[in-house]
Amino acid sequence: MAKTTLHTLLEMKQTGEKFTCLTSYDATQAHMVSSQGTDIILVGDSLGMVVQGRDSTVPVTMDDMVYHTRCVARGNTDAMIMADIPFMACATIEQTYTNATALMQAGAEVIKLEGGRWLCDTVKGLSERGVPTCLHLGLTPQSVSMLGGYKVQGRDEESANRMIEDAIMLANAGANIILLECVPTPLAREITRAVSVPVIGIGAGPDTDGQVLVVYDMLGMTHGRKPRFVKDFMAEAGTPAEAVAQFVADVKSGAFPAPEHGFSK
Ligand code: KIV
Ligand code: NA
Repeated sequence: MAKTTLHTLLEMKQTGEKFTCLTSYDATQAHMVSSQGTDIILVGDSLGMVVQGRDSTVPVTMDDMVYHTRCVARGNTDAMIMADIPFMACATIEQTYTNATALMQAGAEVIKLEGGRWLCDTVKGLSERGVPTCLHLGLTPQSVSMLGGYKVQGRDEESANRMIEDAIMLANAGANIILLECVPTPLAREITRAVSVPVIGIGAGPDTDGQVLVVYDMLGMTHGRKPRFVKDFMAEAGTPAEAVAQFVADVKSGAFPAPEHGFSK
């Protein structure tokens, strides 16, 4: 496979070919995920929960993110590497520049930030300085205390409209990718059509340009309550690599996500 770039993703959006993203936290996962054709690896701050065993992503530090991004970069074949800016590490623009530098120098090619229009100046500044961004909207886990739990977002008209505006404003500011988490399928479809940049979904239905899952979730390794949008691809696979290959094939064919993985309203 050829190296995935922002250009590849934009082309896929334009031609309607779905792209794939999986999280990885170490070199072995990164190699498995990328060698099976996954387009993007996300070094997600979900590592706070699935690697470190914490209750939320809030305790994750920049040092954690840099360490795991380095590990992933060593194992990657030709996926595009995206890494999360953790909780409060983009509170000011200056701080974001410093932290984005650390992630890019650790091997990230895109940095992901949680938040809406208040990040427009940050996104514009990063873009001008050569740092591509992905903006995470909808359920933003770093704000779990503010949101009052892990809930579907954008269910009422006011919050839906606000999310559409956020996506448009951030794309206009220079965001290269929008990521939607736990958003009703019709709203995700509308946002995907409203912006010219690629949109990745998790729990956002089948109509976003790409799909992302947490690697442990799709390998059936996560204990406790399983979110509705998760599918265990190990159930019918012989090896983890086969499960990843099936995820890639099912996203490309439109078989995943099925209606039961999404939220109608
Ligand atoms: O940290 C993460 O894994 C994420 C995905 C769930 C999108 O942000
Ligand atoms: Na994250």
